[in-house]
Amino acid sequence: MSQHILTLCYLIGSVTFIVGLKMLSNPAAARKGNWVAAAGMSIAILGTIFLYKDSKTGAYLHNYAWIFGGLIIGGIIGTLSAKKVQMTAMPEMVSLFNGMGGACAALISLVEFDHVSKAIAENNSEAFIAFLQPKVLIIVLGLIIGSVSFAGSMIAWGKLNGKVKDFSFKGQNILNLIFLAIAIGAAGYLVYVPEYHTLLYVILVLSLLYGVLFVLPIGGADMPVVISLLNSFTGVAAACGGFLYDNKVMLTGGILVGAAGTLLTILMCKAMNRSLKNVLIGSFGGNTATAASGGSSSQGVHKEISLSDTAMIMSYANKVMIVPGYGLAVAQAQHICHELEKILTEKGVEVKYAIHPVAGRMPGHMNVLLAEADVSYDNLLEMEQANEEFSTTDVVLILGANDVVNPAAKSDPASPIYGMPILDVELAKTVVVNKRSMKPGYAGIENELFFRPKTSMLFGDAKKVLQDLCAEIKNA
Ligand code: TAP
Repeated sequence: MSQHILTLCYLIGSVTFIVGLKMLSNPAAARKGNWVAAAGMSIAILGTIFLYKDSKTGAYLHNYAWIFGGLIIGGIIGTLSAKKVQMTAMPEMVSLFNGMGGACAALISLVEFDHVSKAIAENNSEAFIAFLQPKVLIIVLGLIIGSVSFAGSMIAWGKLNGKVKDFSFKGQNILNLIFLAIAIGAAGYLVYVPEYHTLLYVILVLSLLYGVLFVLPIGGADMPVVISLLNSFTGVAAACGGFLYDNKVMLTGGILVGAAGTLLTILMCKAMNRSLKNVLIGSFGGNTATAASGGSSSQGVHKEISLSDTAMIMSYANKVMIVPGYGLAVAQAQHICHELEKILTEKGVEVKYAIHPVAGRMPGHMNVLLAEADVSYDNLLEMEQANEEFSTTDVVLILGANDVVNPAAKSDPASPIYGMPILDVELAKTVVVNKRSMKPGYAGIENELFFRPKTSMLFGDAKKVLQDLCAEIKNA
């Protein structure tokens, strides 16, 4: 009976993962989706703890002190760090948590191989070894993928928090491939001869090395794409664990994470118009010295606008479109941005937000940021919708966005962002750009929009500028 209830728990877990994931695709339902999936996971975990019975011995789990000790310690650390984390540090945290998932998958493989070794020590017959070979195959797969994911995620985490610097040397990609090839070769041999258990540690070390060396040279700013890729690795490694334990919920969860991570990686690359190969072995961005911080550049001279003039044109506009970008997140100016929206709306101005799919540094960054400030989802326009509305917009206010409004993506085939779809802000009557200087954004390239006749620069930290703008419009 208890095993039927456990199967039901797993079924509920699997269904809630799928429903939760579906809900995550809509900003209004995303929070609930997270809770639904978490509730399903809790049911599956508690079901396993109290109902799982060893098929051979018939014994239930008994080491509750260890299990609940781990759950409580992990739960407290996870909750506190999730509450404390800044929005801009979210990719960092995802990377750390993802690394833990990879480490779990690798540890499962180590433990399970130990069981295999003990079983072989008791029964060394050819038939028994042949019976164990598929299991060993899953074990080594989980070990390689989990270790790569763990090591790669730790390096990604270190890079994002500035503790690890980009590092590469000539021939590194080839060396990486050699490590991977040896690890895979050793894994193949181990499946064939599972008695040769020392190879397991060779595979572990090579996979860890590969994980480190594969992520080390990738530009820090490319990390979100890499993290998404590593996320999909962890999913596959967890699915291997699901196979090993014949655990349906682990298998479903792993496959969902693997598939979602892969899709997200593809979508992020597509939205940036870059190939995965280019992200993994190409260098991109970081060339912050390319644009001058002065008033002129190869593109010409930019013009500035004062706060009071900006306040005036916005107050008299019929329609204002706000374009949020990475700088808004850095400045933590989402709340004051919503305040500006409310003040303008009270004055009869229609205010909307134009959201570019890769604005910021992580998928959905701007949606999450603005949701935190209670901006209504109805006012958030996706890129295609926004592009249709710019021609009827009086003022576009760009807040800490740069690459996502750079016309070079359309006009300059030599530009690293050429082909990336952008927000066509120039279709509006007036464009005001708020940033602190003329420095480039993530892609490290100059933005000709800043020098165009319709564009005026409003320099300053986004939060301070918005505070002053709100005060100015209120007093107008
Ligand atoms: P960026 O092109 O990175 O530009 C952000 C701008 O914000 C900078 O030019 C910076 O100029 C300004 N800024 C920084 N701090 C500020 C502050 N406190 N107040 C006001 N402005 C500030 O941002 P974007 O337009 O959002 O584009 C995102 C980029 O990231 C794209 O190239 C995209 O491909 C890439 N990317 C995105 C993702 C995802 S999934 N979202 C993942 C990986 C990479 P100043 O220094 O002059 O202030």
